[in-house]
Amino acid sequence: MKNLFKLSSLALVVTLSACSPVEETNSITNNNTPSQIESATVTADSAIDVSKDYHSYANPEQVLVTHLNLDLTADFTAKKLVGSVQVDVKRQVENANELILDTRELNILSVTSNGNPVSFDLKPADENLGAALHINLPDDAEKLTINYETSPSASGAQWLTPAQTAGKKHPFLFTQAQAVHARSFIPLQDSPQVRVTYNATIRTPKELLAVMSASNDPDTERDGVYEFNMPQPIPSYLIALAIGDLQFKAMGERTGVYAEPSVLASAAAEFEDTESMLIATENKYGPYSWDRYDLLILPPSFPFGGMENPRLSFITPTVIAGDKSLVSLIAHELAHSWSGNTVTNATWRDLWLNEGFTTYLTYRIMEMIYGEDRYNMEAVLGYQDLQADIASLEPNDQILAIDLRGRNPDDVFSNIPYEKGALFLREIEHKIGRDNFDKFLLSYFERFSFKSITTDQFIAYLDETLLKEYADKLDKARIQQWIFEPGIPEGAPVPDSDAFVKVDSARAAWLAGESRANTIKTDDWTVHQWLYFLNNMPEQLHEKQLNELDKVFSLTASKNNEIAHSWLMIAVRNEYKPAYERLYEYLTSIGRNKLVKPLYRELSKTPDGKAFAKKAFEEAKPGYHPLTVHANEGYVN
Ligand code: BES
Ligand code: ZN
Repeated sequence: MKNLFKLSSLALVVTLSACSPVEETNSITNNNTPSQIESATVTADSAIDVSKDYHSYANPEQVLVTHLNLDLTADFTAKKLVGSVQVDVKRQVENANELILDTRELNILSVTSNGNPVSFDLKPADENLGAALHINLPDDAEKLTINYETSPSASGAQWLTPAQTAGKKHPFLFTQAQAVHARSFIPLQDSPQVRVTYNATIRTPKELLAVMSASNDPDTERDGVYEFNMPQPIPSYLIALAIGDLQFKAMGERTGVYAEPSVLASAAAEFEDTESMLIATENKYGPYSWDRYDLLILPPSFPFGGMENPRLSFITPTVIAGDKSLVSLIAHELAHSWSGNTVTNATWRDLWLNEGFTTYLTYRIMEMIYGEDRYNMEAVLGYQDLQADIASLEPNDQILAIDLRGRNPDDVFSNIPYEKGALFLREIEHKIGRDNFDKFLLSYFERFSFKSITTDQFIAYLDETLLKEYADKLDKARIQQWIFEPGIPEGAPVPDSDAFVKVDSARAAWLAGESRANTIKTDDWTVHQWLYFLNNMPEQLHEKQLNELDKVFSLTASKNNEIAHSWLMIAVRNEYKPAYERLYEYLTSIGRNKLVKPLYRELSKTPDGKAFAKKAFEEAKPGYHPLTVHANEGYVN
C-alpha cells in the first residue's frame, strides 16, 4: 500500500476537466490517443481522480502497449509457464523513454529489442499490486521482447494435479485474470483502460489441448502446439488460457462447449439453450461482436461461477444441475459480451458498469428464454441477496462507484455492483418504459463499443441522452443518489413473484405448527421456489423441525449445489449435525468461493464450528484456487 501512494504522488495525474467527459479519449485504447493532461499531484487522502487506475503501475499515458505476441510453454512438472511476450508499443508523448509494466511473482529473465538486450529494473513488490517493471525504451524500439517465467504460486493461474480433474488422468491449468491477476502470468499494462489485441503460441504436453479467450479451432490437430489470435482489442483482465484433456461438442451454429470427456455430454445438454440466448440478446442489444461463443467447463476448484473471457466463457461445473435450473450463469457470462467486453469499466471503481448492466441483461435474457415467472423469481432472489449485503456491509462498500484506493479489489467482492446496479437500471426502465430503455442500451453499446469508460462518462452520457429526452421522468439527483450513496434508494422497484406466494404461505403454516412438512405440496416446485423456501427460514429452527424438513425433503442429499448451499447454511446456523458429513464433503469438493465462503463465515462464529471449518479447509486447501484460499483463511485461523 505504501508503494501505491508513493507512486500516485509521483505520477502525472490525469483529470477529466481537460476534455469533454463523454469523449472516450480519456480511455486509452489502441484506436485513439489519450489526450490526458497532467495536473496537481494526488496524495493518499486527496479527492479521487476518477479516470486514474489506482490498481496498475503502468504508464499507458506515456507509452501504450497495443499488441501482445505470446510464446509460452506449459511446464506441468515445475508448474510454470515459460517463454516470452513481445509487446508492440506506441509512444503517447514525445521522447518517452520508459515503459512501465505490471508484474506479480514473475521471474524476468531478459528484455530485448531487435535482438539486443535492454536494461530494466524490477521494483519491490506491493502485496496487492505486485511489482512494477521499468524498462528503458530504446529510441527506435517499436517492439520489446520480455523473456520470463511464472511462479508456481501465481495468483492468476491454478495448476491442478490429475486427481483434481474429472478424468483423474491428466493435469489441468487454467488462468483467472480479473481483476488484477493477468500480471501474474504476463508482464503487461494490467489496467482495464488499456486494450490490446494478441497472438499466442502455446506449447503443451501432446495429449492436452490448449484453449484461450481468442479464436479456437475445435478441429485443431492435437500436437501440443496451438496458435491463437484475438483480433479485437480487449482489456488485460480478459486474457485467458486453459490446458487440459479437453474435448469439444457443438451446441449450435456459433456455440459449443469444451470440457473433459466425462463432463461433455451433460454440459452440452444443460447449456443447450446457449445459442437461443445468443440470438435473443443480439436481436435486442445489437450484433454479437466476437464471432463464436463457446463455453469451457472447468474443474470444481474454479473460484467463480463464471468468467466472461471473450469467445470462451469459463464456467464452474457446479451449475450442471441436470434441469437447467442454474443456467442464468450462462446468460450472465454471455451478456458480458456486450456489457463488459465491448463496453468496459475503465477502473475497478467502475466495476458496476460491467456487473450491474450484465445482471440487468441476465434477467432480461432469462425472461426472453424461460418466461416472466423465471424472471420474477430470479429477480426476487437477487434482491434478497442484495438486502443481505446492505445489512452487513459498511456504508462505503454499499456505493456503486466504490472508492478502492489502497484496497485489493478481490476483498471487496459483493452483490452491490451486481444487484444494486441492476436495480438502478430497472428503475430507469420502469420510469421511461421498457422499449425506450432497450433502445438506449442498444445505442449505449454502440456508442462505447471497444471503449473503456468511467462512471462519470456514463453519467455524462445519460446527461446527453435520457436526462434530456425524458426530463419529465428522470431526475439527476436521484441518479447521483443511486451511484454515489449507500443503501437502496427509497421507492426502488422491488421485484416480486406470484410463484413465491404459495411458498410463503407453506413456510408460514409449517412454522406456526399448522401443517406438517409432508402435507406441503411441493411436487411442482422449481429450484427457485426451494431456494426461496429455505433462504427465508428464521435464523433459528428446532432440531425437530430440521429433522422433519430433512426427512421429508432429503435436503442433505440434494444434488443441486445451490439448494445444498442454502440448506447447509441453515444446518450450520443451527448446528444440525446430521448434515455435517455432507457439509464436509461440500467444502472439500467445491472451490467456488460464492458457495463456500458464506459457510466458512458462518462456521467461524462458534469454536466448534471453527475447528470443523479448519479441518475441512486444511484438507481442501491444496485443491483450492489461491483466491479461495485468500478469501477464507481468515475464517479458520
Ligand atoms: N466477471 C465476473 C467475475 C469476477 C468479477 C471476477 C470481479 C473477478 C472480479 C463474472 O462475470 C461473474 O460475475 N461471475 C458471477 C456470476 C453470477 C453473478 C451469475 C460468479 O462467479 O458468481
Ligand atoms: Zn459478471
